[in-house]
Amino acid sequence: MQPLKEKIRQEGKVLSSEILKVDSFLNHQIDPVLMQQIGQEFARRFAEDRITRVLTIESSGIAPSVMAGLVLGVPVVFARKRKSLTLTDDFYEAKVYSFTKQETNSIVVAKTHLTEADKVLVIDDFLANGQAAEGLIEIVRQAGAELAGVGIVIEKSFQEGGKRLREKGIRVESLAEVAALSEGKVTFVGDNE
Ligand code: G4P
Ligand code: NA
Ligand code: NA
Repeated sequence: MQPLKEKIRQEGKVLSSEILKVDSFLNHQIDPVLMQQIGQEFARRFAEDRITRVLTIESSGIAPSVMAGLVLGVPVVFARKRKSLTLTDDFYEAKVYSFTKQETNSIVVAKTHLTEADKVLVIDDFLANGQAAEGLIEIVRQAGAELAGVGIVIEKSFQEGGKRLREKGIRVESLAEVAALSEGKVTFVGDNE
């Protein structure tokens, strides 16, 4: 998605060979116009899929998801992060391990917000190792809902998440695919040089 890639080139900060900072439009400050274009692009890619709900995770997944939900005309549910698990029958729950933070957290969704009648589009801001996406997919499975696919704003293709999901037959639509981060420069998949 061209406007997104241009924004990443202009404002993205390469913090290391693994981390891209995009606080000026996605993770701290939000660019509503770009976010609207992102939502339209997700909606276009999943237009034929009869989506009934968008599922994401707090906090940075919410903005692109709301824009997609607006265009698709469906509710947006965001999983909440929990430190410890208070077991209850009212929630679907999955464990998410973060390689970046080296800790496991629970993510939960109230059963009232996702049912077996749903066809779900999972959206997140970043795809790195895929742990968050896999947690959301586990929640879709627990609900007995159908997974249409996963929409990602920025996929870091040099990490394993995208490969892991696609190998399971899951449809992954990433709007920007970062091939490498080096010497302060972002290289996208498909860049010639
Ligand atoms: P994974 O889910 O793909 O396995 O990723 P990981 O555990 O490594 O991600 C932990 C957090 O770091 C997530 O945000 C994820 O979106 C974010 N993240 C991963 N790689 C990058 C990156 O290169 N740049 C930036 N800016 N973020 C990255 P989170 O903790 O859930 O925070 P938030 O949603 O509240 O922002
Ligand atoms: Na994030
Ligand atoms: Na995220």
